[in-house]
Amino acid sequence: MIYLDSNATTQVHPDVLEAMLPFLTEHCYNPSSGYSAAKIVKNALDQARQQVAALISAHPEDIVFTGGGTESNNSALSYLAGQATHKKIITSAIEHSAILHYSEHLCSQHGFNHEKIPVDSGGRLQLDALKQALSKDEGAAFTSIMWANNETGIIQPIEEACELSHQARVPFHTDAIQAVGKAPVDVSTTPVDYLSLSGHKFHAPKGVGALYIRNGVSYQPMLHGGGQESGRRSGTENVASIVGLGKAAEIMQQRLAEDQFRSIAELRDYFEHSLLTQIEGVTINGAKDQRTANTSHLSFQGCEAAGLLILLDEYGVGCSAGSACMTGKQQPSHVQTAMGISAQQAKSSLRISFSIFTTREETHIAIEAVKKAVHKLRSVQGDSSVGPVHIYT
Ligand SMILES: Cc1ncc(COP(=O)(O)O)c(C=O)c1O
Repeated sequence: MIYLDSNATTQVHPDVLEAMLPFLTEHCYNPSSGYSAAKIVKNALDQARQQVAALISAHPEDIVFTGGGTESNNSALSYLAGQATHKKIITSAIEHSAILHYSEHLCSQHGFNHEKIPVDSGGRLQLDALKQALSKDEGAAFTSIMWANNETGIIQPIEEACELSHQARVPFHTDAIQAVGKAPVDVSTTPVDYLSLSGHKFHAPKGVGALYIRNGVSYQPMLHGGGQESGRRSGTENVASIVGLGKAAEIMQQRLAEDQFRSIAELRDYFEHSLLTQIEGVTINGAKDQRTANTSHLSFQGCEAAGLLILLDEYGVGCSAGSACMTGKQQPSHVQTAMGISAQQAKSSLRISFSIFTTREETHIAIEAVKKAVHKLRSVQGDSSVGPVHIYT
């Protein structure tokens, strides 16, 4: 299959797998054990912590390994809500369910109220609305704004949002799960208090991630037990996966430094340009110049996304409609609704997400497959009433 759903998950990089294997076999020891053989395992954890820290320009001691992005998000929000004196929580309207559903839980179980900051038609946070929300007398427990959106790839104005939050003395968390490893993320210049990342979005295994907690910022763990991770996340460490996370971070840091993501953006742009020029009624959703290099969110007028997905699957191309979690549901996603995309256009939208492994040949095959699927669906549905193409800038 030609895999164009890398925002859902990615293939483990061969070098990552190679780095992991010894920690599933010969170096199987518990990193907390006292004998010398376990020291190798402990050292491997330390190295992974340095590699992950380096990817986001953090101090290694500020990295806490977790069981993935959902856990990182829930842990940060759980702590922030637990110590809050104010009952309002602020997020964007386009967060992933790992933030939105946890926020709903805080509202229904702990009496919080939730203010969702709108985005503009390009999918970017409205900073004026955030400023207003933060200036209200009721105060706020925390602000949580994602660094990049999982459906559209749109990168948010995190530096500005963080500054506004700090001016109002409100702690700031960012879900950077779709940004880390794909776009520059630097906590030495963007002073977020907490940041979540997840390995399987950048060629490490699933079920491993990290929560960055800035030095000097308070935190209490969600999981209590053996006191691993300096008491910030108990449970015997998932050593092999953490080693893989570290290796993937090292690989991605090098690729970002060498600007290799430019070639992914070139493939994505070739894909979009081909479809825009070869079929009518195609729309690129979101601010084109503010996206992660690998993501394309497109609407195909007159085509139900569900039908497109079935045909593309038949032609050997895997992608998704909306976010992975939304696939199968027939409602427009909350992200597209927040961007003001009509229900009809939203239902005809696909998310195509490339990775470092996507080739030009695969992209070419995918272009032909999408063209064929759109033509077939339009002829079956008898809808040739394609209107003007709209491109957000
Ligand atoms: C923006 C965002 N946040 C959180 C998550 C959840 O991460 P994980 O699958 O590692 O729990 C995802 C995964 O789809 C995501 O894209």
